[in-house]
Amino acid sequence: MDDSDHAFLPRPVRDSQSDMAEIVLPNDTNPLGTLLGGRLMHWIDLAGALAAHRHSRHYVVTASIDHLDFLFPVRVGDLVILRSSVNRVFHTSMEVGVKVWVENYIADTCHHVSSAYLTFVAVDRNGKHLSLPAVIPESDEERRRYEDAGRRREIRRSELERRRRNQLR
Ligand SMILES: CC(C)(COP(=O)(O)OP(=O)(O)OC[C@H]1O[C@@H](n2cnc3c(N)ncnc32)[C@H](O)[C@@H]1OP(=O)(O)O)[C@@H](O)C(=O)NCCC(=O)NCCS
Repeated sequence: MDDSDHAFLPRPVRDSQSDMAEIVLPNDTNPLGTLLGGRLMHWIDLAGALAAHRHSRHYVVTASIDHLDFLFPVRVGDLVILRSSVNRVFHTSMEVGVKVWVENYIADTCHHVSSAYLTFVAVDRNGKHLSLPAVIPESDEERRRYEDAGRRREIRRSELERRRRNQLR
C-alpha cells in the first residue's frame, strides 16, 4: 500500500473532531459590547475548515453555510468554544457540523450559541476537485448526524437548483 492508498482509507469521525477557543475582545464587538455576528461566522468557517482539513488532508474551499441562528448574546471577555467534525462525505464534498458555546468563567455559566452545517469541497493547488475518503460514524449520535446530513444535502441541492432556475429568468 503506498501513501496515496493510505490517504484514501475511510476515517472515523473522531479523527476530524476539532476544538477552537476565542476570547471575545472589544474589537470583536458592536457598540453594545456584544459579539458581531460576522465575527462569529468567520470563526465558524475556520472551525469547520479545521475538521475538513483533518479529514481530507487536502486544501478545501467553503461551498456553502446553511442557515444560522444566534441563540444567546456573547459579550466582551466571554470565552467562545467551537467544536467541529465531519458529519458525512459525499464525493468531493463533505458536510461539517460546528457547534458553538459561550462560557463565562467569572459567572461559571455555559450556553449554546449556535449550530451550523458547512459544506467544504476538497481541491488541489489548481482548484481541481478531489475525491474524498469515506467517514465512519461510530456512535449513535454520529450515525444520526450522518443520516441527517444526507437529507440536508438533498434540500441544499434542490434549493441550489431552484436559485439557478430563478437567475435564468
Ligand atoms: C464550491 C465550488 C468548488 C463548487 O464547484 P462547482 O464546479 O460549481 O460544483 P460541482 O457541481 O462540480 O460540485 C462539486 C461538489 O460541490 C458540491 N456543491 C457545489 N455547490 C454547492 C453548494 N452551494 N452547497 C453545497 N454543496 C455544493 C456538489 O454537490 C459536489 O459535491 P460532490 O462531489 O460531493 O457530489 C465552486 O463553486 C467554488 O470554487 N466556489 C468558490 C469557493 C470559495 O471561494 N469559497 C470561499 C472561500 S474558501
